[in-house]
Amino acid sequence: MAAAGSLVTDAVVSSALEGRIAVVTVNYPPVNALGAAVRQGVSLAITQAEQDAAVGAIVLVCEGRTFFAGADITEFGKRMIEPSLRAMLAQIENATKPVIAAIHGTALGGGLETALVAHYRVGVPSARVGLPEVNLGLLPGAGGTQRLPRVIGVEKALDLMTSGALLAAGPALTMGLFDELVEEGELRKGAINFANKVLDERRPLVKVRHRSGKLDEARANPKLFTDFRKANAKRFRGFKAPENIIRSVEGALQLSFDEGMARERELFDELLQDSQSAAMRHVFFAERQAAKIDDVEPDTPTLPIAKVGVIGAGTMGSGIVMNFLNAGIPSVIVETKQEALDRGLGLIRKNYENTAAKGKMKAEYIEIRMGLLTPSLALEDLADCDLIIEAVFENINVKKEVFAKLDKIAKPGAILATNTSYLDVEVIAAATSRPASVIGLHFFSPANIMKLLEIVRTNYTALPIVATAAKLAKTIGKVGVTVGNGFGFVGNRILAARDREVNKLLLEGATPSEIDRVLYEFGFPMGHLQMRDLVGLDVGWDRETSASSTVREILNEMGRHGQKSGGGYYDYDEQRNPTPSPIAAKVIADFAANQGVAQRNVSEDEVRDRVLYAMVNEGARILDDKIAVRASDIDIVWITGYGWPRYRGGPMFWADLEGLPKILARLKELEAAHGADFTPSPLIERLVSEGRGFVERQ
Ligand code: 3HC
Ligand code: NAI
Repeated sequence: MAAAGSLVTDAVVSSALEGRIAVVTVNYPPVNALGAAVRQGVSLAITQAEQDAAVGAIVLVCEGRTFFAGADITEFGKRMIEPSLRAMLAQIENATKPVIAAIHGTALGGGLETALVAHYRVGVPSARVGLPEVNLGLLPGAGGTQRLPRVIGVEKALDLMTSGALLAAGPALTMGLFDELVEEGELRKGAINFANKVLDERRPLVKVRHRSGKLDEARANPKLFTDFRKANAKRFRGFKAPENIIRSVEGALQLSFDEGMARERELFDELLQDSQSAAMRHVFFAERQAAKIDDVEPDTPTLPIAKVGVIGAGTMGSGIVMNFLNAGIPSVIVETKQEALDRGLGLIRKNYENTAAKGKMKAEYIEIRMGLLTPSLALEDLADCDLIIEAVFENINVKKEVFAKLDKIAKPGAILATNTSYLDVEVIAAATSRPASVIGLHFFSPANIMKLLEIVRTNYTALPIVATAAKLAKTIGKVGVTVGNGFGFVGNRILAARDREVNKLLLEGATPSEIDRVLYEFGFPMGHLQMRDLVGLDVGWDRETSASSTVREILNEMGRHGQKSGGGYYDYDEQRNPTPSPIAAKVIADFAANQGVAQRNVSEDEVRDRVLYAMVNEGARILDDKIAVRASDIDIVWITGYGWPRYRGGPMFWADLEGLPKILARLKELEAAHGADFTPSPLIERLVSEGRGFVERQ
């Protein structure tokens, strides 16, 4: 073998000759996004390798944690620096020497599109590939919609592209996307060996664009696209990217390759200019920004969490503990009575069994996970836990009592957390002799599934405790958002504002279906009252003190607790389908009469403005009160915890799109008609006077 020689050397792209193979290595941390420097470097390296008679084939490989993670998202909307990604890909595809993409980590978006113009693809077994542009409100715009269907088939490609899901190396090999898998950790060597084999065997320059077999299969099923649209109608509702992806793939079947590429480009540009993509790109960065806490530095110490305790095995406690079992962390769960403990353990086991039955978890993991859990009736069993999370009844006295006891039991340095929904974490902390160790960890139901974790810091919480909580959120796969201590924190405070407005609208004459339709059409998975019925109207309702003082109390007193009891704001059939309820309508009308509220026709526009603007105004007040440090954190809370449609970017981003001057003017009208609930927050007044929006404010 000839000695390795250096062809191009640059910090970003370097090229070395290994025998007759030019190994082009990209090193552009953190994720090798295909920014201008990468495109220029790769393009130059390919040109040089083409010109160099000593080079027989080219291996394209990346340093660091991953193969190209896609186009550089920060470049979208800016002036393009040559060569474009498409030009770089055309150069690779048209190279006269075989190009082999060598893949590790995740080849995503433009990264996979790069691999798809290579003549061959090899990868390590842990590699994964995908076209997740849909998560940015886009479509794969560098040939992905034209090439992926040609390799793995139209239906599979549609599934991957519209869901953004990743494909593991194993299935990718079976589907022919990879030509060979090489030993883990030996990618470079494996790819060079493969390249030599290609040369020895005089294998051709295979171009995906010339494959048509899979497209012919799809042409044989004319209903394919209609069926796909129909099957996913609910999921794609209101969201433009999936429809453009489908249309682009239709183009692959109907048009020549070049025409298909042109169609793809048009459909991509259309999405890129749309506010949905702007919203989703905002969410992408906002989610990562949320993980950054102003005063937490890389060297802020964090505490090891080797054992976790959870108090209360009800709805929340049983879900919360599963997060730790799933992460392999031994945990203790404490209840007051054996019966409640058994019920909680039963819930956890059943949950795992269901997951295994759906094929989402191997059956042997049920016992492995349950084996990490110690059930107990004694708080003393939490003595050696590093983190203890309380999830008992939402009652300040009960919580104070639990924390006072815990203070005597928990080891020094242990983190004491509460999962309270609304209560004052500082008051709870004051029940202990160590308020610096107390923090709120607010999970969302179902706690083993929902991605959001509000991390509530008080004026006393020590920095390492906050840093540990943020790190822990990542460990258990949550999106942690650090918030301040105040009624309902961020999420529930805005929910309470929405609830207040919905209740007023009900009394004024808007029906549950009318209110919910506005929210559903906006893109929420369900309306406010449907959600209330689903959660249960009796959650947080105290039978003892109930005094028929709200519609909800009256419905509860009548035994109408929501879906589970067959009725709440709606009536439900056996399949739990909602229908408008004459009984609830009468309760509402009678209550309104009692309160002296005249019922009238309320327009959809009024519902929309009052409900959504009330939320935005509350978000602004949250910023005024410094309960959230960034507007984008509020967006992340509502997207990950409450079903705000991602393609609308969260309430604060949406408010900017709507226009703050417009919102301010409408809030003033609503204030005149309905009083102080609509008094514009000082922040909105200030931003409008400065001609700014919430999100630019960062
Ligand atoms: N462009 C620019 N920056 C990117 C990026 C991209 N494509 N992908 C990630 N980054 C940045 C992140 O913003 C983050 O920056 P920060 O450290 O300043 O916050 C940093 O890289 C690390 O990212 P993560 O924290 O997400 O790292 P992980 O290791 O958790 O995840 C990943 C890595 C799976 C690659 C994940 O970052 C990811 O999913 N990236 C986006 C992939 C994607 O959507 N690709 C398609 C892009 S669009 C496209 O290719 C269009 C084409 O079809 C024309
Ligand atoms: P739950 O009523 O289902 O469970 C509470 C459990 O705590 C019961 O099993 C009870 O026996 C147990 N318990 C009470 N006192 C105890 C003690 N001293 N020691 C040990 N166990 C004790 O209530 P849920 O819904 O799980 O709520 C728990 C907490 O989580 C509340 O603070 C609630 O506000 C909060 N929360 C609830 C959410 C929900 O959607 N249900 C969402 C987020 C937070």
